Amino acid sequence: MNTPSHFAGAPRGLRSDWCGDLRIDDVGRTVSVTGWVARRREHGEHLAFVDLRDRSGIIQCVVDGAHEVRTEYVLRITGTVRERPDGTRNTELETGAVEIVDCDVEVLNTAEPLPFPIDDRRDVDETLRLRHRYVDLRRARLQRNLVGRARINAAIRGAMDRQGFVEVETPMLIASTPEGARDFVVPSRLSPGSFYALPQSPQLFKQLAMVGGVDRYYQIARCMRDEDLRADRQFEFSQLDLEASFVGQAEILDFVTEAVSDAVATISGDRPVTFETMTWYDAQERFGSDKPDVRFGVELTELTEVFASTDFNAFKAPCVKGIRVPGGAELTRNRLDALTDRAKKLGAKGLVWAKVDGPTAITSPIAKFLTDREVADTVEMLGAESGDLILIVADDRPMVRRVLGALRLDLGRPGVGDGGLRFVWVTEFPLFEGLDESGNPIPAHHPFTMPHPDDIGLLDATGDELTSIRSQAYDLVLNGWELGSGSVRIHRRDTQQRIFGLLGIGADEAQEKFGFLLDAFRFGAPPHAGFAFGIDRLTALLLGEENIREVIAYPKTQSGADPLTGAPSPIEAGQLTELGLRVVVPQPR
Ligand code: AMO
Repeated sequence: MNTPSHFAGAPRGLRSDWCGDLRIDDVGRTVSVTGWVARRREHGEHLAFVDLRDRSGIIQCVVDGAHEVRTEYVLRITGTVRERPDGTRNTELETGAVEIVDCDVEVLNTAEPLPFPIDDRRDVDETLRLRHRYVDLRRARLQRNLVGRARINAAIRGAMDRQGFVEVETPMLIASTPEGARDFVVPSRLSPGSFYALPQSPQLFKQLAMVGGVDRYYQIARCMRDEDLRADRQFEFSQLDLEASFVGQAEILDFVTEAVSDAVATISGDRPVTFETMTWYDAQERFGSDKPDVRFGVELTELTEVFASTDFNAFKAPCVKGIRVPGGAELTRNRLDALTDRAKKLGAKGLVWAKVDGPTAITSPIAKFLTDREVADTVEMLGAESGDLILIVADDRPMVRRVLGALRLDLGRPGVGDGGLRFVWVTEFPLFEGLDESGNPIPAHHPFTMPHPDDIGLLDATGDELTSIRSQAYDLVLNGWELGSGSVRIHRRDTQQRIFGLLGIGADEAQEKFGFLLDAFRFGAPPHAGFAFGIDRLTALLLGEENIREVIAYPKTQSGADPLTGAPSPIEAGQLTELGLRVVVPQPR
């Protein structure tokens, strides 16, 4: 990434230069710099070294020791740039070859001692960091992240603009949207007892924009979802949201690839080399996941045939698969027991492990139950060698995939910044991800997703068979994180009503919840498709951060609180009355 100052533009106001910009070429110039005192070191009685920090970096200033200057005071220093004397250069600082001397120091403000030091190397309690986020933001890491994020947004806007997309803002106070999370709601003063929902996404508005002839819509949209917070989830997050008419999946993938590639290039300097494409079925079969991390091997290998007529009861199952852990024979018995426990927690009946001793020999608690041919075929199918470990799960197919997919990650997943950037388009998601208690299918993406053209005939199926219907939904995955999702949409009223019917949403309920969309479809809705990807997630991955909190200026804690402003907090009685609300605090259970 270029230096932040490069992104900041020409210095103006009280400064002639950014601290981090000064180099040998500037020697002899009289400059004014502004910023915070990062460090002050005494140098004899009369001199002090003051490291002045602004967003761009740090410059050393040699200041008359008489000045009352403490850490984090805000200063303007005017002086002359000089080459540092031999032996005093600091190779860790970009400005380390020069310093400012003959300094005139103006104290613009004082500062009390900080609640924690501004030092990226120190771990500071999260709540303390967030309570004083304005101090936290002074750290180089967060400055870099905010600038990186701004550059990614700028790159995305540039790419969308170039591709003919129009940025359209959609409302924040809306009726509920169907993204499947809980809504945040806002009470209406003018209609007491009624509520707005904050958008979980602009999904319905972007589809309506297609009916409105906008043709190519995009927005860097703020979305709100009341769901449990995790490393890759916040209540509020930002999406690049887009929708286009008269195009299908291929074109949407191209539009998004262009925007993501520009975002990557603005951070790393290079466009990503490849975006692999894989069907959902293959991703599940090979990686046991719909968000395959393809930075490392350890793929799932099908062994069902090998054990088709086995005498070993545990392997008499609809599906048997294994993974090979290179060099894994060294794992201790404790570690193997822990893996077995983990497999059971994930729902497996058990986990079989085998240490490979040669092409036809294994060490395993179940070795005696297998035939020589079963052992030899297993070792061969997995391509295993002496010193490797084999893990096998037998169960129904979804369980086998899930358990081995998770173990594969536990055993082989590289760290966030390692293994490069591996983008995968996962296509042909199932239309339904399962059945609810009433036996109605649950949409895997959302109810506006077009079924796969080859599977339309299956819409008449019932029960579990419905879950084999493929859709025209696709995800973009980066290093095992779901970056975004989208689909070709249903644009005909009759098809949409049919899907609502399958979902158990009756005509009245459909009209009540999505009547405006169904109505719009009566007035010439063009075929359309779209996508949205999480900007917080993309930014975190590109900047090597494990938690999206680090790329959000003012995030919430794990428990959804904002220690800085004290939100959420009770409101005044008068406000409640005005809104026609009475608070009933739930009793602690
Ligand atoms: P979806 O619900 O898959 O699709 O969301 C798209 C992307 O948004 C990001 N995301 C989140 N990021 C941080 N915190 C969260 N709580 C959070 N929830 C989602 C993820 C995710 O992949 N309207 C559809 C898109 C479409 O069909 O066009 C939608 O919102 O990166």
